[in-house]
Amino acid sequence: MKKLDRRQWLRTAGMGSALTLLSSPAALAGNMPLKDPYRPLGQKVDDLVRLSSNENPYGPSPKVRKALTEAFDLACRYPFGYEQKLREALSEKHGVPADHIMIAAGSTEGLKVTGMVYGGDGEVIAAEPTYLSLLNYAEDVGGYIHMVPVDDQMGHDLEEMEKRITAKTGLVFVCNPNNPTGTLLPAQKMRDFCHSVSNKTMVFADEAYFDYITEPDYPSMVELVKEGANVIVSRTFSKVFGLAGIRIGYLIARPDIIDRLQSLRMAGPSVLAIFAALEALKDKEFYQYSLDQNMQGKKVIYQALKDLNLEYVPSHSNFVFFHSGQEIGKLNAAMRQEGVLVGRPFPPFTDWCRISTGTVEETEKFAMALKKVMKA
Ligand SMILES: Cc1ncc(COP(=O)(O)O)c(C=O)c1O
Repeated sequence: MKKLDRRQWLRTAGMGSALTLLSSPAALAGNMPLKDPYRPLGQKVDDLVRLSSNENPYGPSPKVRKALTEAFDLACRYPFGYEQKLREALSEKHGVPADHIMIAAGSTEGLKVTGMVYGGDGEVIAAEPTYLSLLNYAEDVGGYIHMVPVDDQMGHDLEEMEKRITAKTGLVFVCNPNNPTGTLLPAQKMRDFCHSVSNKTMVFADEAYFDYITEPDYPSMVELVKEGANVIVSRTFSKVFGLAGIRIGYLIARPDIIDRLQSLRMAGPSVLAIFAALEALKDKEFYQYSLDQNMQGKKVIYQALKDLNLEYVPSHSNFVFFHSGQEIGKLNAAMRQEGVLVGRPFPPFTDWCRISTGTVEETEKFAMALKKVMKA
């Protein structure tokens, strides 16, 4: 082969990478801005593509980074005084008085405290599979967990869940959109279920992925909180706002419920987390950017799964649950070899896999790795 001189080589190599870039699914989808203000910066832990925990690697936004840096001046102060500011901002966002809100060190803190209070009382009813934080905590304090298998569309079997309610039921947990299935309950069904169940026991609506819902006017269960129902709603800054490492989330419920839960809070938020959240609420541009990128990422994932003829559940969140047909432990190890981390096992669907959207480029790496692994 004729040897290329340095200048020629650079030209060829440059053209090659430009072509690769322009023909990538993201570029074809018109999704490759020349200068991306939200391109993830220096946040690498290692070379692995982390699509295992439904994080949003575009965050924190530049405005939130600035707010965080400025908040260092207040890091010598306890957070009490500043929490009220965030409660007020959230009170405006959700249209509830500030005393209806408990700020938590990630919504996990809210889930755990609730599991302890309402789960320890007796029994908890939830779908299988679903997000386990609250349920694990309830079990740890002696609660019994009724897991109700999801239906053949991977959605909550609300009828069966309601049938399981007895005098011993302390709480019914509904994660909507559900993790790991990504399913969304029909709006009226969700409303009716929560309304009916809240007359019998406490309902917990985990709305961690609510922002990703594209159905117009889809109701938050905060609606029922406003009516004074036995409903607790959780939200987080970990997903669309890209603040999973900062640990901040919140619960919305009647003040008597909030008082009970708040008294058992284990850590609460830091001053930095409060200021990050306050700024994130204002940064509408980044919020929309996150949603748009998530859509693009999902398109890349769907296309790869279609190419491989793999069944998947249409997702209302920032991850996709698909039927790989391989034991998840084996798939996990093979994907790791390719540098991609995928979700953990979700029994009983142990030959299914949950993949997060990450950045669009990361989903492209996932698509390539999966194709290689499935054909091996
Ligand atoms: C459904 C659901 N709820 C809550 C959480 C926990 O979020 P946080 O980071 O706010 O603790 C997660 C995290 O993945 C989740 O999937």
